[in-house]
Amino acid sequence: MKIRVVLVSKLESTLNAMRRVIQDDEITVIGDSPGGVQALDKIENTSPDIVIMTLGAADLDVLNLAERIILHKPRTFVILLAENLNVETVQSAMKVGAHNVIEFPTSPKSFAEYIKSVYNNETTRINSLTENQTITWMSRVITVFGSKGGIGKTTIATNLAVKLAENRKKVALIDLDLQFGDVHTFLDIEPKDTISELVQEVYTPNIDSVRSYMVVHPSGVHVLCAPKSPEYAEVVSPEKIQSLLSLIRTYYDYVIIDTASTFSDITVTAIESASIILFVTGLDVSILKNSKLSFSLLESLQQKDKVRILVNRAVETNSITINDVQKIIGCPIWAKIPSDYKIAVSALNRGVPFVIGAPHSKLSQSISEVANLLLTGSVDYDIQKSQTKEKRGFLRNPPAFKKNA
Ligand SMILES: Nc1ncnc2c1ncn2[C@@H]1O[C@H](COP(=O)(O)OP(=O)(O)O)[C@@H](O)[C@H]1O
Ligand SMILES: [Mg+2]
Repeated sequence: MKIRVVLVSKLESTLNAMRRVIQDDEITVIGDSPGGVQALDKIENTSPDIVIMTLGAADLDVLNLAERIILHKPRTFVILLAENLNVETVQSAMKVGAHNVIEFPTSPKSFAEYIKSVYNNETTRINSLTENQTITWMSRVITVFGSKGGIGKTTIATNLAVKLAENRKKVALIDLDLQFGDVHTFLDIEPKDTISELVQEVYTPNIDSVRSYMVVHPSGVHVLCAPKSPEYAEVVSPEKIQSLLSLIRTYYDYVIIDTASTFSDITVTAIESASIILFVTGLDVSILKNSKLSFSLLESLQQKDKVRILVNRAVETNSITINDVQKIIGCPIWAKIPSDYKIAVSALNRGVPFVIGAPHSKLSQSISEVANLLLTGSVDYDIQKSQTKEKRGFLRNPPAFKKNA
C-alpha cells in the first residue's frame, strides 16, 4: 500500500520541484492543485494520506487551507514546506494545528523518510484515538527461544522482524547468540560494530549511541549483531543486556531477540525481559525431550504465561503429530511453520529472508500469520509482573541446566 500524496502550490515550477524530490516506491503523487477551493475539492475527491504545501511568509491562504484540512479531514495529514524556516513561520503553523513543518527538501531520500515517518506517526496517533484498542502501545520484546541448535530460531527471528517492519512497525533485531550468532548471515549484512564493541566503548548509552552500533537492513529493521568472534561474548554481561534492552524498547514497537540454545545468564535475561517468548520446537523426539525440560524450567522461573509454542517444520505425515507435541510439552500450540528446505536454505545462502525473496511461499505465509497474531493480539502479559520476582539469585547459578543444550 503506497502513501498517497497531493501537492499544493500556486507555482507550477514549485509543483514540479516537489515532484522531483518525491521519488520513492512507497509514495505516490496522486494529484496537485494551486490551492484554495480547488485544493479542497481535490482532497474531498481523492482523500489523500498526505497533503504537502509550500508556505511562504505570512501566507494566510495556505494556513487557512491547512487549518481546514486538519480540522475536517483528520485522516489527511499536512506537511508544510517553509520557504524560510524561522520561529515566526513555525509559530504561525502551530497556531493552525500544523506541526509537520520543514524546509524545502533537497534530498529525495531524506524527504521520503520524512514523509513516511509523518505518515506512520500520525496514523498511529489517529488509530489510537479512534479505535477501541486492546493492542498495547507499549513496545514488545519478543524473545525467540528453543532448546536446541538448528531448529529454526534465527530463521524465524529474522523473517518475523522483516515482516513486522513491512507492516510499518519500528523493529529492532538483537542477536543474543553471543558466541555463534548468525543473524548477519541470514540478512547478508556486514556489521562494522557489534554488541561487544557497544558495551565496551559506550559507558552510558543513549539511543543515538546504541543506533550507531546497529546496521539498518534494507527492510528497515535495525540490527544489533553478535560479536564477530566467540571470545568477545564474555564482555557482554546480563546486567548490560538488561539496561540496553530497557533503553532500546522505548524507541521501537518490536524488539526481536534471537538467542542461543543454552540456558545461559544471557538467555535467561532475554527470557525475563520478554513480553512474549516464542518457544520454537519441532516434531522429533530429541527436540521434544529438550523442549519439555526447557518448558518445565520456564515454568519454575514463572515465565510460562509468556510462552507461545511455535512448531517449526511441522510436517503432518510425521510419526509425531501436533497433538503429541501439546501433550508432551504440556502447553497448547500457538502457531506452526511448514517445512520447506529448499526455500529456507536458498534464502539463507542468498542472505535474503524468504519473506522478501519468496513472499508467496507457504513458509512466508506462515510467518505473516505469526506477525498478524502479534499485530492484532491483545495485551499478552503484564511486563511488570515478570520483572518484580526475586528469582535472580536462582538464575545466576542455574543448577544443572547450564549444560542442558
Ligand atoms: N521451516 C523450515 N523448513 C526447512 N528448513 C528450515 C526451516 N526452518 C529453518 N530451516 C533451516 O534449518 C537450518 C537451521 O536454522 P536456524 O534458523 O539457523 O536454527 P537455529 O537458529 O535454531 O540454530 C537452516 O539451514 C534453515 O534454513
Ligand atoms: Mg540461530
